[in-house]
Amino acid sequence: LRKVTTHRLAEMKQRGEKISMLTAYDYSMAKLIDEAGMDVILVGDSASNVMAGNITTLPMTLDQMIYHGKSVMRAVKRALVVVDMPFGSYQGNSKEAVASAIRIMKETGADCVKMEGGAEIQESIIRILSAGIPVMGHLGLTPQSINKFGTYTVRAKEEAEAQKLVEDAHLLEEIGCFSIVLEKIPAKLAGEVARELSIPIIGIGAGGQVDGQVLVMHDMLGINKGFSPRFLRRYADLSTIITDSVKNYIKDVKTCDFPNESEQY
Ligand code: KIV
Ligand code: NA
Repeated sequence: LRKVTTHRLAEMKQRGEKISMLTAYDYSMAKLIDEAGMDVILVGDSASNVMAGNITTLPMTLDQMIYHGKSVMRAVKRALVVVDMPFGSYQGNSKEAVASAIRIMKETGADCVKMEGGAEIQESIIRILSAGIPVMGHLGLTPQSINKFGTYTVRAKEEAEAQKLVEDAHLLEEIGCFSIVLEKIPAKLAGEVARELSIPIIGIGAGGQVDGQVLVMHDMLGINKGFSPRFLRRYADLSTIITDSVKNYIKDVKTCDFPNESEQY
C-alpha cells in the first residue's frame, strides 16, 4: 500500500492520470473512502455546511478543523490528506497563518493544508511553505469570501477576473504550491490554467480539461437533496436509503416486531 504523496500527484499529472479527490470529516467515512482507493481526501471547511449546518464556511474554527482532521487521519492509510485552513486563521497576518498551519500539521498528522486566495495571501503561503508545510491553493469561487462576492454563481466569466485568476495561478505555482483547486469557473479557462501550469489542477465545477476532480462527499452520495448545481453528479441516493431505513426501524419498534426472539439474550 503505497502512500500518496504530493510528489506522486505531480507524476500523475505528467503521466496524464487523473487525480480523484473527495471530502471526508469523520473516521468511519474516511475509512470507506480511503479503502475504495481515493487519491486525495480533503478535510474541507465545507464541514461547516454539511456537518454543522451553517449557511457559510465562515464560522468554522481552527479547533473544529483539527478535530475533523484527527478523526480522518485515524482512518486513512493510503490517500494524501489535505486539511482546509479555516476563515480567519491565515488572512492578513502571516505569523498567525504559520502558527495555524503548524497546529494543523502537529495535532492532526495530515499531509498538507489548503488555503483560499492568490496575491492577497501570498505572504502567508510563503511563510507556511518555509516551515516545510505543503500548500494546496484554491482559486475561483472561494466560499470564505462569499460576503465579498455576494453569490455562489460561476466566477471569472469576465475578462478582468479571468486574467487575475490566471495570474494568481502562476503566482501560486511560482511561490511553491504543489497543486491548486479551481472552483466553479468556465471549463475553457480551467483547461488553459491546467495546460499552462506544471502542478496538478483539481477542479470542482471547472470542467474536464483539468488534472483531477473534487466533490463534497454529502453532495455526491445524495445525503443532502437540497443542493443540485449543474456540476454535481450524484452517485447514490443515500437520503432515501437512510430515511426509509429509519422509518422501517420506527415501525418495527412501534409494532413490537423488533427485537424478535433471535435478537435478544
Ligand atoms: O471545503 C471544501 O469541501 C472544499 C472543496 C469544495 C474544494 O474546499
Ligand atoms: Na473549503
